[in-house]
Amino acid sequence: MTAAPILSPRMRGITASPASVLRRRARELRATGRDIIELSSGNLDFPTPEHVIAAAHDAALRGETRYTDVDGTPELKRAVQAALLRDHRLDYRLDEIVITNGSTQALFNALLATLAPADEVIIPAPYWAPYLDQVRLAGGTPVVVPCAQNNGFRLRAEDLQAAISPRTRWVVLNNPVNPSGALYSREDLSEIAAVLLRHPDIWVLADGLYEHITFDGLPAPTLAEIEPRLKPRTLTVSGLAKSYAMMAWRIGYAAGPSALIREMIAIQSQTTSGASSISQAAAVAALDGPQDMLRERAAILRTRRDRFAELLNECAGLSCVPPEGTFYLLVNCAGVIGKHAPDGKAIETDRDFSTYLLEQADVVVFPGEDLGLSPYIRVSFANPSATIEAAARRLKRACDALQ
Ligand SMILES: Cc1ncc(COP(=O)(O)O)c(C=O)c1O
Repeated sequence: MTAAPILSPRMRGITASPASVLRRRARELRATGRDIIELSSGNLDFPTPEHVIAAAHDAALRGETRYTDVDGTPELKRAVQAALLRDHRLDYRLDEIVITNGSTQALFNALLATLAPADEVIIPAPYWAPYLDQVRLAGGTPVVVPCAQNNGFRLRAEDLQAAISPRTRWVVLNNPVNPSGALYSREDLSEIAAVLLRHPDIWVLADGLYEHITFDGLPAPTLAEIEPRLKPRTLTVSGLAKSYAMMAWRIGYAAGPSALIREMIAIQSQTTSGASSISQAAAVAALDGPQDMLRERAAILRTRRDRFAELLNECAGLSCVPPEGTFYLLVNCAGVIGKHAPDGKAIETDRDFSTYLLEQADVVVFPGEDLGLSPYIRVSFANPSATIEAAARRLKRACDALQ
């Protein structure tokens, strides 16, 4: 008999992230011989650029296999500093920058360093699911603000204002947004900034992980560049994962006031220590190297986005609007809710629909319930065109079979 550990109260309600659960499920089903199409993944199908891999290889051969400074190598910190200036005209000193094990760690360490019990963090929905449990693990309370489709899934200034309480410590602003693909323009952010300027104790977690995946040349501004008066209380977070197809290299970064960065580094020094030396060398090559690839890859994704949206809109009960950023489509599935599967099972929620698609169509999608907004499913178009076509055929058949 295995003994169950006595859990800390901080684990109450905490689960493995929905993305990790779906990833494992897809792998298990494939192992049984099923031909599973995974539309739920946050992985890009593009390879990490060759010059980036070469830089990692060279670093390993040079013997760069020792612990680095916890806050990152000076070379990578300088590369991040230059990228923030180049892409956002944001000027940070090196002691205002920390390199982390993925941007996940930057976000969590900032919350852990600052939240006291009952402190609130405003999270616009739909959201990247880990924001919620990160806040809870750090002892705070997430305050979810729904962002409706008829406002392009963007947070409205008046909804932000209404969600603010004396306990609000942070507001999360992800641009462009996973999972809706919504993109905040300079004007959108200025309206939000105007609210925040009236509340001097609230800080902003600006998560720009998908900043280079926008379409038609649209910029993805970040709050500190839009409103310099908010820079002293904004943590600008990003990473290499999506822009440079470096998901598993685990390099993220944060830039913000040195007093906060110092505390984040202290936590990192006591927990994971610095990021991988090899990955950091690769990240320098990515940030300092040619950037044309970013636009080229965004153009490929745009073509796939348009095709997938067109095909999904032909599925009975589904509808979606092509987003301005990220590689996700948030598909409204209100039209299938209330129907029945051929085996008689009722589709009452987007989770039911996702389960039906997995069981009957061998397609894995992300249910809106896990993203804070229903009834929706999130599908990725960071897949080869043939996979997108095959997935759409399966989805169409599955929707047609509902009664
Ligand atoms: C909005 C958003 N923020 C942060 C992350 C964390 O990414 P990473 O830790 O790989 O940098 C993700 C990952 O999918 C994300 O979608």
